[in-house]
Amino acid sequence: MILETIIATTNKKGQVNFAPFGIRKDKNFLFISPYIPSQTLLNLEETMQAAVNYVNDSSFFVNCILGKKNFKKEKCVKIKGFFLKGAEAHDEVVVDSIIKDRIRPTFKCKVVRRIYHKRYEGFNRADGSIIEACILASRVKILKKKKILVSLNNLKNSVVKTAGDNQIKSWNLIRKYILDEAKD
Ligand SMILES: Cc1cc2nc3c(=O)[nH]c(=O)nc-3n(C[C@H](O)[C@H](O)[C@H](O)COP(=O)(O)O)c2cc1C
Repeated sequence: MILETIIATTNKKGQVNFAPFGIRKDKNFLFISPYIPSQTLLNLEETMQAAVNYVNDSSFFVNCILGKKNFKKEKCVKIKGFFLKGAEAHDEVVVDSIIKDRIRPTFKCKVVRRIYHKRYEGFNRADGSIIEACILASRVKILKKKKILVSLNNLKNSVVKTAGDNQIKSWNLIRKYILDEAKD
């Protein structure tokens, strides 16, 4: 199973980077597989640690795609880094080993601290669709515009039926980004 998260890594200078990544889990380990190149990959290689943030609010994913990543953050306890303020929970992890690959290496990470911040308030279908739209946005340069439009149209149904104000705002932002960036 893949879980969509916001990963916070830092470089050696202590500068933080947030980015969405789908992770896999196995007991006290989790697995992060960044395609080459990415800042998250560079930071993981450089400092061998990360905070994995679990969020229910899909606007974090949208803002990462839009490059608005100056999120509020707090210092981690077991690693030199930061976790995302506003996350429902976060794990502090250290890299245990790296499975090398020329396209997409995998970082096997040991969870050294597991923290719960907020009560989980339930799943909203529009948030799911917005995260799906973020995936489309992250592939906007490689997918055909026609295919993207069909997918967006399908995703729209759950937004229309179930979104609150925040989800409508996020949906409109990610939709505009996709339509602006999509190639014919
Ligand atoms: C929900 C979601 C999940 C993603 N999962 C991955 C992933 O597992 N591996 C990956 O390389 N990119 C993934 N991406 C794309 C990265 O977030 C994207 O390439 C991002 O620009 C990397 O940022 P960075 O260069 O700051 O690390 C995902 C994007 C989204 C929206």
